[in-house]
Amino acid sequence: MAKVVLAYSGGLDASVAVYWLKAEKGMDVVTFSADLGQGDELTPIAERALEVGAVSAHVSDLREKFVNEYILRALKAAATYEEGYPLATALGRPLIAAELVNVARKEGCQFVSHGCTGKGNDQVRIESSVFALAPDLKVVAPLREWNLKSRDEEIEYAEKHGINIPITREKPYSYDHNIWGISIECGVLEDPWNAPPEHAYLWTTRPEDAPDTPEEIEVGFTKGVPSSLNGKAMSALEIISALNTIGGKHGVGRYDQVENRLVGIKSREVYEAPAATILHKSLRAIEALVWSRDVMHFTGILSERYARLIYDGQWFTSLRENIDAFFDKAHEVSTGSVRVKLYKGSAVVTGRKSPHALYDMKLATYSPEDKFDHTAAEGFIKIWSLPMRGEARQKKGK
Ligand code: ARG
Repeated sequence: MAKVVLAYSGGLDASVAVYWLKAEKGMDVVTFSADLGQGDELTPIAERALEVGAVSAHVSDLREKFVNEYILRALKAAATYEEGYPLATALGRPLIAAELVNVARKEGCQFVSHGCTGKGNDQVRIESSVFALAPDLKVVAPLREWNLKSRDEEIEYAEKHGINIPITREKPYSYDHNIWGISIECGVLEDPWNAPPEHAYLWTTRPEDAPDTPEEIEVGFTKGVPSSLNGKAMSALEIISALNTIGGKHGVGRYDQVENRLVGIKSREVYEAPAATILHKSLRAIEALVWSRDVMHFTGILSERYARLIYDGQWFTSLRENIDAFFDKAHEVSTGSVRVKLYKGSAVVTGRKSPHALYDMKLATYSPEDKFDHTAAEGFIKIWSLPMRGEARQKKGK
C-alpha cells in the first residue's frame, strides 16, 4: 500500500486532506506536525490526526533548530523581502520539508503531502525543498487536485463523510504563525486600498494605544548572534520570545505590503514581527560600527539575493551555503551591544558599542583631540578629482 507523510497543522484543510488521501488515493497516511513557536498545542493535534484516520502521528518541537539553523542565518544575512517582510513563513518551509523527509524515511513513505494552495509560494518552497533532499520521493498535493473550491465546500465534504473537523468559528483572515512572525492574508485585506482592521493584528498593540512612556532595551550580540537582553545572557530563542512580547506591547513590527509572489501574482500581505524588526535593526547598527565601507556596501547585493532565495524556496542550495559562509566570516567581528528605544510603533537605535569597532573617535572628532591629518586631504582630492578635471577639459573641447 502506498504510504504518505502529510504536513499536518490540525486545521480544516489538513483534516480533510487526511481523509481524502486515505479514501480517494487509497494511501496510508502518516502525519507530521511541528512546533515552530506558533503557540498551538501539539498533543491534541496528534490525537486529532489519528482520529481522522492517520496510521501514525509525529510531532516535534523544532523551535531551537528553527532559530539556530534558519532564523539566525537570515538575520546575519539581513534578509528581508521587498518592503520589509522578515520571511517568517518562508523560513519555516524548508525546515518542515526536511522533517517530512526524515519521517518519510523512518516510516517508509513514498509520498509527501501538504495542505498548501495551488496559487501560493508555500507549495513551491515545500516541494522544492523535499526534492532537493530526496529526489526519489513523490508529492501529492490534495488542494491542487480536489474539487473543493471554498471552505464551505470543504465543511460540506467533511460532514458528508463523517470527518470530525476542528470546530472553529470561521476566521475572517488566514494566519500563519511562527516565532519569527505572523503572516496575515484574505478577507477585506484582499483589497489593497482597505486599511487592515485593528482586529486583524494578533501580537502588536495599535501604536496609538501603546504606552506613552518609551522603553529602552539593550540587545547584546556575539559574532552576529543575539546573546543577551538588558545585560542578561539568554539564548537567541529566549531573546526572540521576549522581544516579541516587549516589541508587540509598543506596537513595533507591523508591515503592510503588496508583494510579488514567485508564482506571478501580486498579493496584499500584512505581517507582524516585533522581534525580527528589533533584531534586524540592532544587528545593522553593530555592522555599521565593525564592518568596512567596502564590506557594508558589498553585502547589499548578497542580502537581496539571500532574501529572494528564502522567498523562492531555494534554501537547500549551494548558493545559500556559499552566502552563509560569507556572512559567518563577516560576523566574526559583530560582537557588541545596541540600545533601542521602543515607542508607539517605532524601534530606534540610540546607541551602539563594540570591542571590534572600526569607528575611531580620534579620527571622527571635531574637538582638539583630533588625530586626522587634514593636510593629507589636499593631495587626496587632487588625485581623486583627476578624472573629473579631465572630463571638464573634454567637454570644453580641449
Ligand atoms: N506571503 C507570505 C509568503 O509567501 C506569507 C504566506 C502565508 N502563508 C500561509 N500559508 N498563510 O511567505
